[in-house]
Amino acid sequence: MSTENGKPKTENPQLISSMKQFLSVHDVPDLSGLVQEALRQKQNPFGDEHLGHHKTIGLLFFNSSLRTRLSTQKAAENLGMKVMVMNVTADSWGLEFEDGAIMNGNKAEHVKEAAAVIGQYCDIIGVRSFPTLNDREKDYSEEVVNQFVKYAGRPILSLESSTRHPLQSLTDLVTIEEYKTKPRPKVVLTWAPHVKALPQAVPNSFAEWMNVADVDFVITHPEGYELAPQFSGNAKVTYNQNEAFEGADFIYAKNWSSYREYGKIINSDPAWRVTTEKMALTNDAKFMHCLPVRRNVVVDDAVLDSPNSIVIHEAGNRVWAAQAVIKQMLTAIR
Ligand code: CP
Repeated sequence: MSTENGKPKTENPQLISSMKQFLSVHDVPDLSGLVQEALRQKQNPFGDEHLGHHKTIGLLFFNSSLRTRLSTQKAAENLGMKVMVMNVTADSWGLEFEDGAIMNGNKAEHVKEAAAVIGQYCDIIGVRSFPTLNDREKDYSEEVVNQFVKYAGRPILSLESSTRHPLQSLTDLVTIEEYKTKPRPKVVLTWAPHVKALPQAVPNSFAEWMNVADVDFVITHPEGYELAPQFSGNAKVTYNQNEAFEGADFIYAKNWSSYREYGKIINSDPAWRVTTEKMALTNDAKFMHCLPVRRNVVVDDAVLDSPNSIVIHEAGNRVWAAQAVIKQMLTAIR
């Protein structure tokens, strides 16, 4: 990655570098160029249809998905690719990931063979694999996605891993670029309550991308929900949600489980829900969420149904973000 002061360097958007993999913002050689490429794809969805001719993308899902599955398939098809989708856990053999395992249990195939075989059929492989939320070291080592990188012999595209969701984060940056009304908007990532323990992948990744974007970035959450320092980086962090909302241009709501008390729900205070009263503290902020969202748990109906909610537009942008990324990956393998 070319960097300036530890940040991805902004280069001429017409001269975009190719990408050999897309697992995090660190794989992006030109952040501003990639955002502009997504906006170009949106203006001209079929302009690069020739690039994917006779190329196949395999999309492997170890976990559920609506947006990632459909938007990535649509993006690849817009680029002229053939698409194969597999729900790995439901449709395939149980996969073993442990090196040296004596495979006398219920896992019939090792990732060494499975990934290599999928690599025989596909030119690019997308993988979605959520964390266990039981074993922090294992989850943060990105065991599943890294074994696909190691054994598939093909470029790997993250469809959300244990610790990151880069296609979502690129989408979010593209959406902020479209809606911002000042050069350096205030963007607030706020924790919100939930009934289940959720991964840190979306907030980790959002923080990682916002920390290298030209925004005034603030994170607010109850005590104990600190993100891993490598993701929160230099963001301003406050336990005072109202203070964080003051003057904000974008409110990005998301629940996550504790990193410190790994995978635990240590606070479910409904006072952290996003309400119209809290939105009134902002600079007429746009409301963002990656979806799916639990109404009246994470955010009130009145906020989600208001004109300031841009969650559907944001989800629509998933196609153009994926298309920009796959285009760069196709460029790398031509
Ligand atoms: N935001 C997102 O990744 O949605 P899905 O889990 O439905 O793919």
